[in-house]
Amino acid sequence: MNSLVIYYSLEGNTKYISECIANAVNGDILELKPKKDISPNGFARYFWGGKQVLFKEKPELNNIDKNPLDYDFIFIGSPVWAATYAPVFNSFFKQVTIKNKKIALFACYGGNEGKIFNSFKNVLVDNEVVSEIGFKDPLTNDKQAAASKVTAWAQSIVGKSQK
Ligand SMILES: Cc1cc2nc3c(=O)[nH]c(=O)nc-3n(C[C@H](O)[C@H](O)[C@H](O)COP(=O)(O)O)c2cc1C
Repeated sequence: MNSLVIYYSLEGNTKYISECIANAVNGDILELKPKKDISPNGFARYFWGGKQVLFKEKPELNNIDKNPLDYDFIFIGSPVWAATYAPVFNSFFKQVTIKNKKIALFACYGGNEGKIFNSFKNVLVDNEVVSEIGFKDPLTNDKQAAASKVTAWAQSIVGKSQK
């Protein structure tokens, strides 16, 4: 069973969780990077990021160097932005069609998960979403606890999917 972890992270939380998952299941990583990202510092990030969500923007992405269709199992993760996924995923889902895959969703948030998992499920309708998990700013809360939790989660769902 080969796994791919697809993620975006502005401030490092989702990156941290993604790397824990990739280590746990010996998977590959596809980091979505906009050609021109907003600054992770300062309050302006909420304004610019919120504006991208509001206007359903599709920031231009750097080269996508992994084909999700080559993998049996896909993890997809994003920070919660204005209660949904970061707009780089608008660009990604426009470029890449994911179908007939087993998918697990993860998210990092500052307050609550909002509707991020439903938003993802709405665009991943032709797939089986088997699990979802959220973490509250893992880098500034209990980093080690988040790592242990996500490692156990990832291994158990990939293990179950193999049966
Ligand atoms: C533009 C923007 C919008 C955000 N909107 C929300 C939100 O609606 N709900 C929430 O709980 N956290 C929100 N956050 C906080 C992030 O989801 C949270 O800090 C997350 O852990 C950041 O992940 P990252 O380090 O991978 O970028 C927002 C952050 C940004 C930059």
